[in-house]
Amino acid sequence: MFRIGLGHDTHRLGPGDGLVIGGVRIPHDRSAIGHSDADVLLHAITDALLGAAAMGDIGEMFPDTDPANKGRDSADMLHRAWAKVTVAGLRIVNLDCVVFAQRPKILPHRAAIRRRIAEILRIEEETVWLKAKTGEGVGPIGEELAVAAECVVLIERGT
Ligand code: CDP
Ligand code: ZN
Repeated sequence: MFRIGLGHDTHRLGPGDGLVIGGVRIPHDRSAIGHSDADVLLHAITDALLGAAAMGDIGEMFPDTDPANKGRDSADMLHRAWAKVTVAGLRIVNLDCVVFAQRPKILPHRAAIRRRIAEILRIEEETVWLKAKTGEGVGPIGEELAVAAECVVLIERGT
């Protein structure tokens, strides 16, 4: 049995000194704003995984009204979602992700990001792919008001 999941996330950009994308800190002249560490890619992956398993979404699991979630490490949230899915006997087949950001360049960090995601999800790096897109200078992405990410994940019931 195969199941597909889709995740999407957006964070506003503001003054700052860097972004955390896929668990990797990338120096930049702006930062993503959010209740947690605002890691748009790990949030999209968490939602994709929960969606594939029909197990809710990141906001249900970690409400931003709960002070315990303030500044929570997104890797911890993804790991907890992974644990929930794994306990249910489901296994990740592959992930494909897109980060939407006018700047900074993501590709130089792709290897590190894939490695970190694979580590959090206890899978091989080959199982994770990552692409990046600018906003072509238009809209909230292009005008550097926001960053976004999308992810699809395929899971199967373990043998
Ligand atoms: O060329 P195309 O319009 O399809 O894409 P683009 O958004 O102009 O991005 C050009 C190249 O830069 C692609 O190879 C992206 O993977 C890369 N890129 C990146 O590394 N970091 C970003 N924040 C945006 C794009
Ligand atoms: Zn988010």
